[in-house]
Parts: sequence; structure tokens; C-alpha cells
Amino acid sequence: MMKPVDLTHASRLVNHGPTVLVTSVHGARRNVMAAAWSMPVEFTPPRIAVVIDKRTFTCELVLASGAFGICIPGASLADLTWTVGSESGRELAQEGTDKLARHGIAFEPGPVLGQPLVQGAIAWLECRRIPEPHSEQAYDTFFGEVVSAFADERVFSAGRWLLDAFDEGSNADLHTLHHLGSGNFAVASRVLRAKLLK
Ligand SMILES: Cc1cc2nc3c(=O)[nH]c(=O)nc-3n(C[C@H](O)[C@H](O)[C@H](O)COP(=O)(O)O)c2cc1C
Repeated sequence: MMKPVDLTHASRLVNHGPTVLVTSVHGARRNVMAAAWSMPVEFTPPRIAVVIDKRTFTCELVLASGAFGICIPGASLADLTWTVGSESGRELAQEGTDKLARHGIAFEPGPVLGQPLVQGAIAWLECRRIPEPHSEQAYDTFFGEVVSAFADERVFSAGRWLLDAFDEGSNADLHTLHHLGSGNFAVASRVLRAKLLK
């Protein structure tokens, strides 16, 4: 079901502002956190920006490894997203475990950078960190070049999201999450086709 996405279309995976899961790995340590603040910043080569607070364990692993994964959860992963965004993996690592094991989150290593790619997510991107020490330090903003991208063909195909109206129901569990605060999410569910004004 996960199909490679042409890197020229990678920006579209995050263009509409979905809440994402940022994954990371360094040696035996691995982690996952939620992030509502991410965006594309370049088409070619595909680059994205994501805010990773410097107090997070994710920040530590990304700085150590020079890479991170972006996994886009569908509506069915709302509880998982809220959970991994509400606890830190730092203490778990000291106990020799991590959020993935604790919550039974299945994943596979990405093909290019080995980043943990969460099973059940609807899109995956592997990103190589573009070192920008000032942005990282001053604004917690990390830039990454997307080096591999995949999406669930039921909801993203030929470079486009397929977001059927909810009442049509066919892929409702796969629609992206948009954080409203305090664990409340809106779900993308309608596509409007705009016309140019005359
Ligand atoms: C829905 C949601 C969105 C979040 N968005 C961000 C974000 O954009 N950037 C950020 O640094 N933290 C964000 N957080 C908070 C982190 O996910 C949280 O601090 C997490 O516990 C960090 O985990 P870690 O220490 O294991 O890396 C968000 C949390 C939630 C629940």
C-alpha cells in the first residue's frame, strides 16, 4: 500500500499542514514525537522545516545523527499522536526502552537513512538534516532535505491527496490530522476546487 512518491511531489505531503510524527535514531536509541509545526520550504531539491524544541529528546538524537523521519498519521492514529507528543523518550531511554516499544508502535527502517518509519502512518519522508545552527538554536527550527518519500496510495496518488468527503466514508481513517490544541484535532475531509476570479 505504501508507494514511493516522486521527490518532486514530496512537498505536497506536508503542504496542507498536517500534524506529523518526527522520528529519530542514533545508535541503539530511537524516538518519536508529535509536531504540528512543519512546512515545505523548497520544491527542488525538496526541503522542509520543522520546529523541534531544543529540550526534546528528539532534538538530541537529530543533532547526533544528522537525520530525522517524518511520518504523517491518519485519523486512526490520533491517540498515538497525542500520546507520543505528551511524554518524552529521554527518561525511557535511561530505563533502556523507548516510546515505540512502550506503545507497541511497529516501524521499519527507512531505505536511505534508516529512520524509523511508523507502520500505519499514511506517508513517510526521510530527511537529511541541513545544518543551520542559528535557526536551530534561536528558533528550534530544523531544515531537512527529503531523500525518500512514500505514501499510502489509497489517500495519495499521482502527486495528490485523495480526501473523499467523510460521509462518503471510503478512506476516512486515513485523512490527515490538524492540531487545534489540547488533544483536539480537525481532520481534513473535503477538497474544494478553486476557480480564478475574472
Ligand atoms: C499535537 C502535538 C503537536 C506538537 N507539535 C510540536 C512541534 O511542532 N514542535 C515541538 O517541538 N514540539 C511539539 N509538540 C510537543 C512534543 O511532541 C513533546 O514535547 C514531546 O514530548 C517530545 O518528545 P521527546 O522528548 O521524546 O522528543 C507537540 C505535541 C503534540 C501533542
